[in-house]
Amino acid sequence: MKKQSIGVFDSGFGGLTVFKEIAKKMPQYNYIYLGDNARSPYGDCDFETVYQYTLSCVEWLFEQGCQLVVLACNTASAKALRSIQQNVLVEKYPHHRVLGVIRPTAEIIGNYTKTQHIGIMGTRGTVKSNSYALEIAHFYPDIKVFQQACPMWVPLIENNEHLSDKADAYVQAYIDELLIQNDKIDCILLACTHYPLLIPKIKKYLPSHISLVSQGSIIANSLADYLNRHSEIEQNIETKSEKLFFTTGDTLNFNTHATLFFEEEVNAKKAIIL
Ligand code: DGL
Repeated sequence: MKKQSIGVFDSGFGGLTVFKEIAKKMPQYNYIYLGDNARSPYGDCDFETVYQYTLSCVEWLFEQGCQLVVLACNTASAKALRSIQQNVLVEKYPHHRVLGVIRPTAEIIGNYTKTQHIGIMGTRGTVKSNSYALEIAHFYPDIKVFQQACPMWVPLIENNEHLSDKADAYVQAYIDELLIQNDKIDCILLACTHYPLLIPKIKKYLPSHISLVSQGSIIANSLADYLNRHSEIEQNIETKSEKLFFTTGDTLNFNTHATLFFEEEVNAKKAIIL
């Protein structure tokens, strides 16, 4: 088999917050990042739409030579991962693997709370799917989960408005709506890979005793652990430290925006995905 790259997928820019940590932890591998910016945001789309979009992007990454794809997107992980794993991979791609971000996060979220009360902030799709509440209950039956959908946050980030004054009202409103649900919340999980870009604003409105958890390093550690346990996949990955970026949207806009928070120059190519 020709040597492979690790595929990292998100609806847009958000997955770069995860990719940055993965590449920092495992710089030796070759990677292909794909942002579906042309069809983003996914957060308000129905299950079937998120599934079809995600599947088309995953298959495109398979065609580019990725045996392993990480869905660095909570919405896609909540709405498409299980069907892709249980139907598509089994029937069509038995040697390929697709991993999500919800389970590895749920597995260790208990380490971040003393009060056993956790707030989850995510897209409407992630919150409605109830995936976090279900996965966390599986690992930590005593933890109480409170969820808040933040539908304006991804559009602010995709439009590069997230650090503008306009963002403040939306940031404060969703934090207030979450915290009003229970005063014992001592930890908030940013359950959308876009949201770490809003951390400076979020911190402005968050009481200091509440900690913020973002997923980048959690997913990087869990992927490293997966590769240690699956040498049959790991041995197929090329170790030339190459990173390729693709977007279904405008490449110039992607490069300008992505370079800002990937903290490296990004030169994306256009991916045509139907
Ligand atoms: N980064 C995606 C997530 O983690 C954003 C979803 C969207 O496109 O709305 O959920």
